[in-house]
Amino acid sequence: MKKIIFDGDPGIDDALAIMLALQSKELQLIGITTVAGNVNVDRGTLNALSILEYLKIENIPVVRGSEKPLYKELETAEFVHGQDGLGNINLPSPKTQPIPQLASEFIINTIKNNPNEVTIVATGPLTNIAKMLTSSPEISNDILELIIMGGAVNIPGNVTSVAEYNIWADAEAAKIVLESDLPITLVPLDVTTSFRLTTANLYEIKKANTPISILISRMLPYYIEINQKLRNIDGCYIHDALAMAYSIDPTLFTTEMMGLEVMVNKNEEYGKLIISKEKPPLKICLKVNSQRFLRFFVDRMIK
Ligand code: RIB
Ligand code: CA
Repeated sequence: MKKIIFDGDPGIDDALAIMLALQSKELQLIGITTVAGNVNVDRGTLNALSILEYLKIENIPVVRGSEKPLYKELETAEFVHGQDGLGNINLPSPKTQPIPQLASEFIINTIKNNPNEVTIVATGPLTNIAKMLTSSPEISNDILELIIMGGAVNIPGNVTSVAEYNIWADAEAAKIVLESDLPITLVPLDVTTSFRLTTANLYEIKKANTPISILISRMLPYYIEINQKLRNIDGCYIHDALAMAYSIDPTLFTTEMMGLEVMVNKNEEYGKLIISKEKPPLKICLKVNSQRFLRFFVDRMIK
């Protein structure tokens, strides 16, 4: 089994990524670190704890991470994910607590205790990952892979015309990470917005009537409504689930190796990714077999 640390800002699609990991026998989810993004870090941490408790999953440590970007002010996205970050379903407050450790420390210690066995799936702003790399540059030698949902390479962004939210929310952190020598696979909007989870897919999931399918059926209506209002689409984009899916079955994707420069000037290019031969190459998912992915995802959510 592949050991996974999930680092994210749950967030509805982050929650789907966590559930996909829990439903996949190929993976062992060994920790969840939270970062301020879609919602503040306390809300995101509560959401991670609540999801695990709702699903009666024990012994997966949840670690509260960065409460703000490295330099800029935090700009959350409750309008997309709901005031509670999970589609306003208001799960009961968790009885469990996060473990008292810094997220970057937890990640570093876990990787060093499991050299070349840990994959990080990062689906929020990259603040924790940047702090990890800054305090322990040698970690590049011990991490198996860093899979990141973020960025827009050959298509427009979703926050500005050039920037995707996870990169834009902390471009300075993204620059540290994406321009490093870490073994990175990037899952950008180019693939995550190439198809939607439709209301028909949601109906199939709902029919399973399992704890996970009930939780998804409660979360997604808000998200589908917002996607309809903001993006005039039927269904919704489930960005973060694709990053987790890559860790399970990379053959769902077509990739290319390219270096990327992250723009951090305080202007309209902030958060833009520019292909650069001067930067260390990373693996970029440019295409996804969307029909295969949807079948894969729905099958795992209903089993
Ligand atoms: O741009 C989409 C990304 O930003 C997703 O990870 C979503 O959860 C938000 O964090
Ligand atoms: Ca996210």
